[in-house]
Order: sequence, then C-alpha cells, then structure tokens
Amino acid sequence: MWTALAALGRSASSGGYFRQPFATAERECHAWFAEQAAARGLRLEHDGNGNTVAWWEPEGATGKAVLTGSHLDSVLDGGAYDGPLGVVSALAAVDLLRDRGFTPGKPVGVAVFAEEEGSRFGLACLGSRLAAGTTTPERARELRDPAGVGIEDAMVAAGLEPDLGPSRWLQDVACYLELHVEQGRDLVHRDEAVGLASSIWPHGRYRFDFTGQANHAGTTAMPDRHDPMLTYAMTALAAAKQARLSGNRATFGRIDVGPNATNAVPSRVTAWMDARCASDDALAELVATIEKQATERAGRDGTEVEVRVESVTPEVVFDAELTGRLAHGRPVIPTQAGHDAGVLADAGIPSAMLFVRNPTGISHAPDEHAETADCLAGVEALADALTELTR
Ligand code: GLV
Ligand code: MN
Ligand code: MN
Repeated sequence: MWTALAALGRSASSGGYFRQPFATAERECHAWFAEQAAARGLRLEHDGNGNTVAWWEPEGATGKAVLTGSHLDSVLDGGAYDGPLGVVSALAAVDLLRDRGFTPGKPVGVAVFAEEEGSRFGLACLGSRLAAGTTTPERARELRDPAGVGIEDAMVAAGLEPDLGPSRWLQDVACYLELHVEQGRDLVHRDEAVGLASSIWPHGRYRFDFTGQANHAGTTAMPDRHDPMLTYAMTALAAAKQARLSGNRATFGRIDVGPNATNAVPSRVTAWMDARCASDDALAELVATIEKQATERAGRDGTEVEVRVESVTPEVVFDAELTGRLAHGRPVIPTQAGHDAGVLADAGIPSAMLFVRNPTGISHAPDEHAETADCLAGVEALADALTELTR
C-alpha cells in the first residue's frame, strides 16, 4: 500500500507531496482507496462533502459502528505520513484482524476525510466539519481557493456531486479512533513507538492586510515611504517573540505581496498567521498583543493594518474514558496539531487518537518520517483497539 501511494502527487524536486482536495493527485489517492476497499470486499460510501468511508460489515455485526481512518490530502509540499499513515494503517488493521480470525461484533468504517489540511480552501478539517455539522454549507460556499474557485465548483470539476451538509452515516458512528504520525518528538524522548492523544491545543488562522503606498524603489527617499512590507516584517518578528515568551506558537507561513516588483515599494502585503496556545485565553491574549504591536508599527510606518479571524478552533480534550481504555500503559500526550478526530470529538462523538513515533519530529514538510517497525507497532495497536471496541 505504501509503495502504491508513494508516487501520487510527489514533487520530483523536493520529494514532498502536493495533494490538494479535488485536484488530480488527491483524486488518484481516492481512486487507490476505492481499489483497496474493493479488494477487501468493503462497501464504499461517499457523502456530498467529498468524504468517503469503506465499511466492514461482517454478518452478525450490529449496533453503531467504530470508525477509524484519517485523510489523504496534504499541505503544500507535505510529507508522506500526515494523513495517509492513518488510512493505510486502518486497512492494514482490517487485514490483521482477519488474519487473526477476528470478526467484529459491530461495523467498522475506514474513513477518508476531505480537505483536512485546509491547504486549498483555507479552513482545516472542512470535510469532517461539514459531515459533523459544525460548519454550515453556507460558510463552506463562501470559501475560495487561491484561484477564486469555490468548493462546489471544485468538486464538480473533479466529477463529484456536491451535497454539502451533515453526513447521514456519521449518525451511525459510536466512536472515532484516528491513527496519526506524531508531529513532534515527545515519543522519541519517552522512548515509545506508540502513544495516545490527551488534547489538542486551541488554534486559529488570522489574515493580516497591510496597506501602504506604492512608489519608486530608487527615487523615494526612505523617510517619505509608507511601506507595508516593513509593517509586516515587524509584525512577523513580534509574533515570533510573543509566542516564544509565552511558550506558545505563532507562524507567518504565507504572504501575498502587491504588486510584487523588485524596483517598487509595495502597495500591500497580505499575510496569514497560524497561532496555537495551551489555553483558549492564552490564544486570545497572544493574538491581541500581536495585533496591537502591528497597529502601533503601522502608525509609525504611515500604513494601515486590518486583521480578520479566518477560523478559531477551541481546545479539544479527548474522551478520557475511551483513551484510558485503549492506553494500556502507553503515554498520553497533548498535541499542537489539528485533526478530524478533534472535530468529531467537538461534535459529541467520543474520539481518541494513536500517535506513531516520528524520529525527527518533522512534519508538514518532505522530511516527515516514521520507521516501518514503528508503523507496524501502530497497526497492532490499532487492531487491538478495534478488537476491544467491537467485541
Ligand atoms: C493540521 O495538520 C494542522 O494542525 O494544521
Ligand atoms: Mn493530519
Ligand atoms: Mn497536517
């Protein structure tokens, strides 16, 4: 399975993955998933949000289902593991359970959620949010990709039939268990191959629009400028400093400059900040401090800054009883990364996560990695958990 996925959407220059929702590489991943489901005799079900579930429904399996899986889309130039490891491990766990001769007493679903990264439409976990009803179709329709395309048009262009809104099948789900590559080095420090998630830090995305005055890069004396790039640069430094001082995270990873010319003072800079904190209050305070410093600097630069909140995801605390049942002495650790499991937990579906050790901790980048032995330990842990939950 890993070898078949390895080539899909891979950049020859960086070795990273470009699997944006409803674009070619991600569609190839979904086609691969459909083949894998068919090869195992799993029933495939699609919803109108771009999500897919493969159902294992042995005779006699009754009651609400246990859902596992993850996502197949990636960030721009992402790693191989973030998302696909959870999907591949779920299919491998089904194989392992069958090899063991185990028949679940409840249906098991392997889910692939769409646009988990928010790399195209800007809102992370869009597929699971729509499925769970925590984001409305109206809100989703307002979103645009960088080329101005909306989600429904993107789905139609990919040959899908959009029907945005809560997914019927999610109502038949008792709990969700997502396996994921760890995106830090906590398990390395603890010398453990597999752990579980306790919580997800509150996090948000914020759009900063800096505006100034375009002018000649040679003839405009330095004191005469209203350069929004300077306001942006100081804001990025302030964000890093404030996050560091408070033990939190703030990142400007995407900017758009106009007119983007070497020999002109720019007229505008749009920059997106990703901020994550240990508590909801700390997140609000961090963003307010950065906005205040940006506004003060804009006053000195003769520029303007407007800050818009694109999304805020409050803290998620995973189901302690479910996590405790599955832990068996493994470490239970918080994460700063967002996940579909957090969305489903927020929607009232008991959810838990298994993490597989990542030797370098690198993620959202081509160097993301997990050793095969650890991945196999993850499959075993997932199969054991599915046994426990579906007995
Ligand atoms: C998703 O991976 C996120 O945390 O940005
Ligand atoms: Mn992920
Ligand atoms: Mn990710």
